[in-house]
Amino acid sequence: METYITRRERFSAAHRLFRSDWDDAKNLEVFGPCSNPNWHGHNYELFVTVKGPINPQTGFVINIKKLSGLIHERIISKIDHKNMNTEVDFMQGRLASTENLAVAIWQELEQPVSNLGIELYKIKITETENNFVEYYGK
Ligand code: NI
Repeated sequence: METYITRRERFSAAHRLFRSDWDDAKNLEVFGPCSNPNWHGHNYELFVTVKGPINPQTGFVINIKKLSGLIHERIISKIDHKNMNTEVDFMQGRLASTENLAVAIWQELEQPVSNLGIELYKIKITETENNFVEYYGK
């Protein structure tokens, strides 16, 4: 009986969407206010969904505290109140879009989640209340 469980975590981070091979006008045209040269922040919500069988002894797919601890260790402690362009190791060399962030977080969590004996299923990130990205690792 495969069941899905999701943990939500929140973080605040600064970023800038830009390409250094484009001038500021072109960056503004493509990326809008997220290209502001002096940075800006968002309050992100991260939803990590894992799947696995229900353990008959506990009734749990996973102890959610363990999953939360893992997300804090691998992601939140590195990105919360940081500049993801300059300070976050797993975002180096990536354009700091929500899409790329979702892929990077998947890559950070896939193996550690697997080490807990369950499978990572989905990463969902909201950047504003109107926009969110989902990544299923494919
Ligand atoms: Ni932005």
